[in-house]
Amino acid sequence: MSVALDIVNLTKRYGAMAAVKDLSFQVRQDEILGIAGPNGAGKTTLFDVISGLAAPSEGRIALFGEDITACRADEICHLGLARTFQLNAVFDSMTVEENLLTTAYFGRHHRSFPGLRFDRQSRIDCDETLELVGLADLRRRPALELTVLQRKMLMLAGALATSPRILMLDEPVGGLTHDEIGHCANVLRRVRQERGMTIVLIEHVMSFVTALADRVLVLHHGAKLYEGSVDGMTRSEEVVSAYLGASGVRALKQETEGQDHVATA
Ligand SMILES: Nc1ncnc2c1ncn2[C@@H]1O[C@H](COP(=O)(O)OP(=O)(O)OP(=O)(O)O)[C@@H](O)[C@H]1O
Ligand SMILES: [Mg+2]
Repeated sequence: MSVALDIVNLTKRYGAMAAVKDLSFQVRQDEILGIAGPNGAGKTTLFDVISGLAAPSEGRIALFGEDITACRADEICHLGLARTFQLNAVFDSMTVEENLLTTAYFGRHHRSFPGLRFDRQSRIDCDETLELVGLADLRRRPALELTVLQRKMLMLAGALATSPRILMLDEPVGGLTHDEIGHCANVLRRVRQERGMTIVLIEHVMSFVTALADRVLVLHHGAKLYEGSVDGMTRSEEVVSAYLGASGVRALKQETEGQDHVATA
């Protein structure tokens, strides 16, 4: 088993409060790891520290064997890690295509300032990614005019256009309808199939997590509450009492047995 991401005794303190507390886990290459847990559990903080937006207080992070604990966000991006954000983060005043050309250009190359025009490889990456997420017909549309789903797809595309080896998604389907969630699940399946990507996704929509994830990590008060299979998670007394609730487990079972546009490709 090859390790994509190795998190060792990671702690992130904000003042006296530890948002992430002595956390250790690994992400295997090519797996999809789901991260769940109550509001305020430290999920986004974990992403912020891994992606270089916030410095860790203690611990070590290795990406494909390379220590990135002290690296800047742009350096981590160039080493092959891309992330999305819980709240939408696209360039509103740019078109869909301009958004992607920009992330492809700065993600792939290590330049600090664009030349007079985007290079050929950035255009190829942009076109391929637009096709992959289904935004090709909207390439000339300003990002500001997109629907919530389209904006989510654009943020995903922006991360993909940097040519990452590992993709980290913070609540990719929060606020979407059931059909839209199904669409997102299918796009991620294609991403995995076509690009052989390692994916870490934070999500509260548990039917989405269980449909896609190979394993799940549940955080509570910044620490690991559970790590293992999806089935084991719904049977874990700690997870049920701290996060899912008995009614949550029932709803999840009904949803995965009854329908399902998320569970089937
Ligand atoms: N920059 C910051 N400064 C101070 N405290 C912070 C900061 N960022 C996060 N926190 C605190 O850290 C804790 C964990 O927050 P975080 O956003 O990581 O939780 P989360 O698991 O992503 O929650 P949610 O499911 O609501 O998105 C919270 O108590 C939050 O208030
Ligand atoms: Mg969060």
